[in-house]
Amino acid sequence: MKKALAVLLAGTMALGLGACGSSSETAAADTASTEAATEAATETASSEDTATTEAAAETTGAAEETSYDLSGSKYLSDGELTVGLNAAFPPFEYVGDGTDSFEAITSNEGNATGFDVAMMNEIGKRLGVNVVIEDMDFDGIVPAIGSKIDCGATGMTITDERKEAVNFSDPYYNATQAVLLPKDSDVKTEDDLKACKAIGVQAGTTGETVARGINDSAVVSVKSFNQAVLDLVNGKDDAVVIDQVPGEAFQKQYSDQLQLVDGSVFNFDVEQYGIAMPKDDEVMLNAINGALADMKADGTYDKLLDEYINNYEAE
Ligand code: ARG
Repeated sequence: MKKALAVLLAGTMALGLGACGSSSETAAADTASTEAATEAATETASSEDTATTEAAAETTGAAEETSYDLSGSKYLSDGELTVGLNAAFPPFEYVGDGTDSFEAITSNEGNATGFDVAMMNEIGKRLGVNVVIEDMDFDGIVPAIGSKIDCGATGMTITDERKEAVNFSDPYYNATQAVLLPKDSDVKTEDDLKACKAIGVQAGTTGETVARGINDSAVVSVKSFNQAVLDLVNGKDDAVVIDQVPGEAFQKQYSDQLQLVDGSVFNFDVEQYGIAMPKDDEVMLNAINGALADMKADGTYDKLLDEYINNYEAE
């Protein structure tokens, strides 16, 4: 999906390539899309001339090596892949300091970084499309797929309910829910969760479903995990139900205040993350699955896991 502004930017960018600014200007430019087109173009162009040239070369190279024909894709034939995510879910997506360079990402709302961002960048490179990142509320992502965004890549669990609205890629990560608690909490079992007064969750997540199944009246549903975790740290909530790996990331960030209890203690199910896409684009589904499989086969997927998940350190 391509917007008029993007066309304008690309055009101006090509012209502006010779006149580059410093890389510190690039770091400061976090909301280029809201700025005047020329200004944004100068800032974008400043993201290292060499990197831009290399990225272009790589993209061409990838397009030659692999054979993704996107001409029949309803959403990608314009050369742009717009990805919705909620960047408060480390290490899958979170607000970075803007220094990570993603060659295929041409617009990155809020300097999102993390595993999903790197994965979508890699998929974009392999498909030969520009990737545009939109940071949005998690519960707004599925409804926006096929209109505001082309896909959602945001640690989203594949569920039957969501499958009624969207297609999912092949699973790319196994997950489970876990429980974040204050260090001095006595909560140890499901029965203890039933006795809690306030259990924080992010609206629209599988964690919300799990928490409601245990103790519906205690559920406090908020827009972001940053908020839920803050409420926990500040003593407003007794517990937060969150995916295991992001739970570990938040626990590390507040290691003096919080502990994380494994989902296995509560018999939580295994979940799988998938990239959510519009139902009416089989070409896109096959292309994204193909690129994912290629990344897994050639070791790139494991490299990204190492870099973004195994070696994640809270920023
Ligand atoms: N895996 C859970 C779900 O699909 C939580 C995902 C939350 N993602 C996020 N970026 N906040 O519902």
